[in-house]
Amino acid sequence: MDDILNKIKEFESFALSKLESVNDKKALDAIKIELLSRKGRLSEFYGMVSKVPTEMRPKLGAELNRIKKVIQDKIELTDKAFREVFKKEFFDYTLPVRASFIGHKHPLLQTVDDIITIFHGMGFEVAHGPDVETDYYNFDALNTPEDHPSRDLSDTFYIKKGILLRTHTSPVQIRTMEKKKPPVKIIAPGRCYRSDTPDASHSPVFYQCEGLYVDEGVSFGDLKGTITAFARTMFGKNVKVRFRPHFFPFTEPSVEYDFSCIICGGKGCRVCKYNGWLEISGAGMVDPEVFKTVGYDSEKYTGFAFGMGVDRITMLRYQIDDIRLLYENDVRFIRQF
Ligand code: PHE
Repeated sequence: MDDILNKIKEFESFALSKLESVNDKKALDAIKIELLSRKGRLSEFYGMVSKVPTEMRPKLGAELNRIKKVIQDKIELTDKAFREVFKKEFFDYTLPVRASFIGHKHPLLQTVDDIITIFHGMGFEVAHGPDVETDYYNFDALNTPEDHPSRDLSDTFYIKKGILLRTHTSPVQIRTMEKKKPPVKIIAPGRCYRSDTPDASHSPVFYQCEGLYVDEGVSFGDLKGTITAFARTMFGKNVKVRFRPHFFPFTEPSVEYDFSCIICGGKGCRVCKYNGWLEISGAGMVDPEVFKTVGYDSEKYTGFAFGMGVDRITMLRYQIDDIRLLYENDVRFIRQF
């Protein structure tokens, strides 16, 4: 029995000195197997327990358990030390980087860019006006009567008397004509505001793109041709354009115009409410009253103007069915474009 206990003691100091001299993780793993695995050195000693006299067994067992614990602790400690060193000294440059998200333009602004490109091709320049307008530019100069319902507090956001958030981009027509003599050929994209309750097709803030072309001899045919050329470039050769009589105080005659449904090709679907057409905005020939206001000779010049719902066009081209998605700025939505 003493013989065995001596051997165990010898094994213990052998094991500890071996662990003391180990200097890398791989060697440590090998020693662990050598000492502690099922076929390892310690197992051999455990195998002897059943061969010594019964009264000696507890002592032998206890001694082996003690040594096992000592070795395990030492291995654990050495392993931890290796991990610390590894953390400090090694930086693995070959690991793949985590993908970062690259920002891009909002889908609405991508659409604005494309609208600008198309109209550039037809000789239109870009003009801008302020979002905060006076009621003169937003209404009066556009020949809108004092009692017109669009002036109502429930439709227009007033900042104070006479100052408001523009309800359309049409005031840019006036600001442009005040500054420049004909020919004038501009588009004016930008934000507009109306006091609407948000739902799938209404947002209190939205985008329009105004168009204005004034020169000698500009006709309603030019308006139709321009809108049709735009529709075909934006949505493809097969899109049809339809003009319906309408009323606006600043154009005469006035129309509303529709594109044949981009989704179903005019056959009828949920998006076009099964009538095959999609309303885009209003347009018409500039009213002589407006020319008078900006000092243009309405005997000499004629012109057309149109509005354009940028949100509508964006929703159609990307098949978005709720306008609110365009203004909530949820990155999970925006990243898709
Ligand atoms: N400003 C009009 C609107 O917001 C659209 C329009 C623009 C109509 C230009 C005629 C000419 O509904």
